[in-house]
Amino acid sequence: MTDSIVLCRPDDWHLHLRDGAMLAAVTPFSAGFGRAIIMPNLVPPVVTGAQAAAYRDRIRAALPETAALVPQMTLYLTDSTDPADVTAAHEAGIIRAVKLYPAGATTNSASGVTDFDRVRPVLEAMAGAGIPLCVHGEVTDPAVDIFDREAVFIDRVLDPIRRKTPGLRVVMEHITTSEGVAYARSGGDDLGATITTHHLVINRNAILAGGIRPHYYCLPVAKRETHRLALREAATSGEARFFLGTDSAPHPDSAKLQPCGCAGCFTAPNTMSILAHVFEDEDALDRLEAFASLNGAAFYGLPPNEDRIRLTRRETPAAYPATIAAGDETVTVFDPGFPLYWHLEDA
Ligand code: NCD
Ligand code: ZN
Repeated sequence: MTDSIVLCRPDDWHLHLRDGAMLAAVTPFSAGFGRAIIMPNLVPPVVTGAQAAAYRDRIRAALPETAALVPQMTLYLTDSTDPADVTAAHEAGIIRAVKLYPAGATTNSASGVTDFDRVRPVLEAMAGAGIPLCVHGEVTDPAVDIFDREAVFIDRVLDPIRRKTPGLRVVMEHITTSEGVAYARSGGDDLGATITTHHLVINRNAILAGGIRPHYYCLPVAKRETHRLALREAATSGEARFFLGTDSAPHPDSAKLQPCGCAGCFTAPNTMSILAHVFEDEDALDRLEAFASLNGAAFYGLPPNEDRIRLTRRETPAAYPATIAAGDETVTVFDPGFPLYWHLEDA
């Protein structure tokens, strides 16, 4: 049995770090990633280059001195985003990508896009400048069943946008369905897809069977088992289009444990140990580096990180906190439901 593997330092291509006390509390748990695409869904959202630069500086201030992490900032696309501000922020090296949230699709997405024709000039400018669009792929039509919202989004929104905007580089964020996997595979090297840690581990039973478990509720919501298996097959395939985006999305327990609790799983503290477990289960440890460290960088046109990490399988489980403190609040860490024997260290 393999009991130690060395990888290029991994990157996290979809991460929520929040702001204020939460930022200070959660950022150290992502400090071991080389780069992370930082989601802009603050309140208010990060919509201009100047706001992205200021947020980047707050993140840097929250990082431990020894941190590897270099934040890769994004802008939150709204109906009134100025194409010139987007291209200027990209040229100045402030942003790596732009995030599209359909209005109302998820946490803090009220300012998202309501009319895809209105953002056409921004999408054209991004295609011209090679700026990737990170897409939260769920329709918000209340008539569409929540478990179908990703598949319907692909047909109604994503495919038409891609057809109308040749050259636009698109990341399908946090895919959760076999339809998402299939659509990602239908594209060329202008189409990538991130997969979260938790969607490789849980299906919808984890949320709903035997009692309701708010800490497993996230968006897009976990689907039935066939979809989880499709995601595991895609993530462990080694294919360049699939890469890690944890979507680690911390919320205070006081906001999750409510009659109407909010969506998000906080996976930053134990992600690499969980991934090693999953890839070992799938007999694919040799493809973990492609998924976590190589494919995403290549999609974004960046070299792999130069330094390395080691994952070692030990007899005693890796320790991680069940909860962390953020100001006066508590945030619960994602519990994969099995002990984690893979320990993460610098190589
Ligand atoms: C994210 C959040 O809390 O910001 N929640 C989630 O369930 N993933 C938003 C998102 O990425 O959809
Ligand atoms: Zn997210």
